[in-house]
Amino acid sequence: MELARSLLPAGAPPHVVLACGPPPLLRAAAALAAERGWDCLVSVEERMGCGYGVCRGCVVPRADGDGYATACKDGPVFDALDLDWARLGGGGGA
Ligand code: FES
Repeated sequence: MELARSLLPAGAPPHVVLACGPPPLLRAAAALAAERGWDCLVSVEERMGCGYGVCRGCVVPRADGDGYATACKDGPVFDALDLDWARLGGGGGA
């Protein structure tokens, strides 16, 4: 993430971060965007069993404390502010 930090100096475009990849990478992208005051959209890579919101195999924790969202039905692209990064799998820190 240090490379991204150096290539994207504060105040420089882009002002929206689009990220896909494993949770640690998404978490780092969300942290960088928050630090810079930029919007951030993340595409989560949860495994999908049914693909239409029934099996609950693709859930991701919501930041509003209201349980979980399904990646298949509610996503897979989320505003980074809508996810609870402390509870999202994958470990690691930003
Ligand atoms: S894949 Fe089954 S609920 Fe999302």
